[in-house]
Amino acid sequence: MHIAVVGSGYVGLVAGACFADLGHQVIVVDNDQAKLAALKAGEVPIHEKFLPELLRRHRGRNLTFSDDLVAAVRASDAIFVAVGTPPTEQGEADLSYVESVARGISGAINGYKVVVEKSTVPVYTSDWVRKIILRNAAAPDSFDVASNPEFLREGTAVTDFLYPDRIVVGADSERCASVLRKVYEPMTNGSYYQKKGAIPAPDRVRIPPPLIITSAKSAELIKHASNAFLAMKISFVNAVASICESVGADVQQVCQGIGTDGRIGPRFLNPGIGYGGSCFPKDLMAFRAVARECGYEFRLLDEVMRINEDQRQRFLRKVRTALWTLRGKRLGVLGLAFKGGTDDIRESPAILLVQALLQEGCQIAAYDPAAMDRAREVLNSKTEFVGDPYEAASGADALLILTEWEEFAALDLDRLFQQLKYPIVIDGRNLYQPDAMAARGFTYYSVGRQAGTPVAPAEGAAAGKIKKS
Ligand code: UGA
Repeated sequence: MHIAVVGSGYVGLVAGACFADLGHQVIVVDNDQAKLAALKAGEVPIHEKFLPELLRRHRGRNLTFSDDLVAAVRASDAIFVAVGTPPTEQGEADLSYVESVARGISGAINGYKVVVEKSTVPVYTSDWVRKIILRNAAAPDSFDVASNPEFLREGTAVTDFLYPDRIVVGADSERCASVLRKVYEPMTNGSYYQKKGAIPAPDRVRIPPPLIITSAKSAELIKHASNAFLAMKISFVNAVASICESVGADVQQVCQGIGTDGRIGPRFLNPGIGYGGSCFPKDLMAFRAVARECGYEFRLLDEVMRINEDQRQRFLRKVRTALWTLRGKRLGVLGLAFKGGTDDIRESPAILLVQALLQEGCQIAAYDPAAMDRAREVLNSKTEFVGDPYEAASGADALLILTEWEEFAALDLDRLFQQLKYPIVIDGRNLYQPDAMAARGFTYYSVGRQAGTPVAPAEGAAAGKIKKS
């Protein structure tokens, strides 16, 4: 099929590359000339597993990049709109980019087209897109507007796209639904997965994925409700973690106990320093704004956001509990990205915590495997960026783990112990076991579990560790 994807951001670029891998002819359209030049030159603007491989495979063949929206619409059966919907001051989604693309599309329609919302948008957007296209003189039967929300996570975006739990297609006519069925056919009939060179399947996937057809409005709601539910799950477990800390229970055990109930499920039950990223914080605000506009005060979402905020404050209190005063303390920080596997620092709880600690007069030595270049742009010159976790720990009063990178869960603990001025680890992602850390001589704080303290008399003294300065 011939497909245009408008917007070469996270969703647009991944969708474009994956559609090309499914065998479609894809044009990715953007009006940012610098971005286009970089993509045409073979650069990969985001840190995403398998994306470089897909771009290499298809660039210049069945995946091209262009600034010509009109030509791309004319050449395509389906036009996926994946432009940004940033939050306004009031927390609503700013849909002006979506509107401007809709206007651009309407003048180019030269036969039946399906205009597909891929960006996360409020529930009434498909109606508006239709109105805008009609207002700009397109014939009513020359197009349909569909909603096909994306559930990809940063870091695993390509496999999330190609091996989804489900494909949701919101289409209000059979003619429209049949175009989208065809787009996803290589996945739904399983042929993509048999193909030589198909991106390998992650664990626990359902092949072929089910395709769920709904109305456009329901599909729009499915996206907002999914993200809100996942964020609610995280805030719920963070609240439970706080109770665990107060009563001396272990949140990992509690999560194992509740997550094995098939109705609840084990995923997105990891407590931590709160959710961040470009989706959950923005989408919760937008969903609350949509609900309010429809006359419903979604107070549950207020509480989800409040708990999330509070989780960072609780972590800061833990740092104070461990170190007493903060001014002049040197802290090693592991992780700046909003989660592991990405270089994205948007709404990263790690960055917000580092900023708060800098404000308190701490000196920070930070390491992140991918996000340091981006972090340099937002953190002040008091932050030292170092080359590995041990350098971050070197001479530090404590080590803070703020992002769940896999490599942070496999550190050489003896080496770490030698590097730290005091063997104190404050883990915001529960990557280690308190008892095991205590047995290695560390004072170890984590989330929703009792602190681990070394069995020996004084912090560090057990292993012959003395204060170095
Ligand atoms: C999220 C959703 O998971 C995707 O399904 C959705 O498509 C995407 O938003 C979007 O709307 O575009 P993403 O923001 O990439 O994906 O990241 P997640 O993996 O969901 O993590 C979000 C935040 O929650 C991170 O800060 C992560 O550290 C935190 N988290 C996640 C936890 O604190 N605990 C968990 O158990 C899971």
